[in-house]
Amino acid sequence: MTHEELIARDAAAIAGVEKLRFFPATMATGARAHLTDVNGRDYVDLTATWTAAGLGYGHRRVAQAVAEAMAGQPGSGLSIMHENAVLLAERLLELVPERVESGTGEAVERRVYLGHAGSDACDVALRCARAATGKRRVVAFQHSYHGGFGLAQSVSGVLVEGGAVPDPDAVFVPYPNPFRPHAGTIEESVDDALAQVSTALDGGDVAIVAVEPILSDGGFVVPPAGFLRRLADLVQGYGVLLMVDEVKMGLARPGLMHTYQHEGITPDIVCFGKSLGGGLPIGAAVGPAWVLNEPPASALLTMAGNSICTAAALAVLDELVEGDYPGRTAQLGQHFMSGLRGLQEGGGVQNGRSGGYIGDVRGHGLCIGLELVQDRASNAEAADLTRKVIYRMWQLGVLVFSVGENVLEITPPLVITEADIDRAIAVIDQAICDAADGVVTDEEVGPYSGW
Ligand SMILES: Cc1ncc(COP(=O)(O)O)c(C=O)c1O
Repeated sequence: MTHEELIARDAAAIAGVEKLRFFPATMATGARAHLTDVNGRDYVDLTATWTAAGLGYGHRRVAQAVAEAMAGQPGSGLSIMHENAVLLAERLLELVPERVESGTGEAVERRVYLGHAGSDACDVALRCARAATGKRRVVAFQHSYHGGFGLAQSVSGVLVEGGAVPDPDAVFVPYPNPFRPHAGTIEESVDDALAQVSTALDGGDVAIVAVEPILSDGGFVVPPAGFLRRLADLVQGYGVLLMVDEVKMGLARPGLMHTYQHEGITPDIVCFGKSLGGGLPIGAAVGPAWVLNEPPASALLTMAGNSICTAAALAVLDELVEGDYPGRTAQLGQHFMSGLRGLQEGGGVQNGRSGGYIGDVRGHGLCIGLELVQDRASNAEAADLTRKVIYRMWQLGVLVFSVGENVLEITPPLVITEADIDRAIAVIDQAICDAADGVVTDEEVGPYSGW
């Protein structure tokens, strides 16, 4: 099948509701951090399929675990018990540090919800919080993303701002953005955000506060150091549940196993998805038994916690721990970010011109945001340029998606090599210059409007 044929058949057969396209990528296969299109052309992938391919494509250990599990599957966990689900839950309990009751000093008894994706993990955690506390209000952040349906969707700032119906009991508060503070300085913005959380908590009717440790779909905002710590102290000081959504950034990508560990906090509930499945769909929420047991039999997905997806997830977690992926991503992330900062400072080979459009480079490990601006004096968002830069990068053989209006989300498979990172940096340099020079036309990017 040719590139053109696949585009035409995709347009005629696949529903528009599940398309978020930035360029006409037509892929046939993947291996490690590379994808190959139907014409046999090779691409370095900086998306990891929105981080779902954390260990890259076709990881042998995961493939073997899946093949074995598939050959002898004992059914799924809804109405029978099987060891893979229990092992995975036990492994996640080990990986997520437990919280200690402030009064008794005893560890909180916990359970794990196993589901199909990040969306249902977050949705179930939020619903359980309401049922267990008897309170309705959910505090979430503007421009946040927690899931594509249900309560997870209706407390997702990005989706509500885009037209989804907000939950009537959701309160949206600003997420402090060091590059674009919403209230004067970044310190004032942090104070303002926390004051708004505090006002909501004072109402006494908050069931849970949900936060992304890096606001990813909402523009790849890395909060200033100390913000999550202060948020956790505030929320948990009120005795309210704090849910940290690690679905996109978590599991070794941020240079630690969990992004929230950069702030040394202990959330009440942690949600996972995407890379956990190693290419198969699975999600999980780890939290207090008194929350995740409520109400019993209220999240009944027939194939949730099935033996195949749980086998994949176990292989992923074993690989991440045994291969010290947090250490690897910390080191590769530093290499990537220093290369990008070099471009920003005018070190690109295209006469250093790309640096004039790079407003900010931020991140932890291999969670990196590159914000493009119209010029460094105004820092005005360069939305049109961004669409054309990522389109040009696709033409030049490197895949990346954008978030917010003007931020490149650089989240490659964790198995990426330094040589591929260097190639990607050179392509980013060239693509920025080419896009600024008008090499990509409005007609070309027209059908690929992204968000
Ligand atoms: C932070 C966060 N939470 C939850 C989700 C939902 O995950 P999924 O789309 O795999 O259901 C996403 C998806 O992008 C996400 O970025």
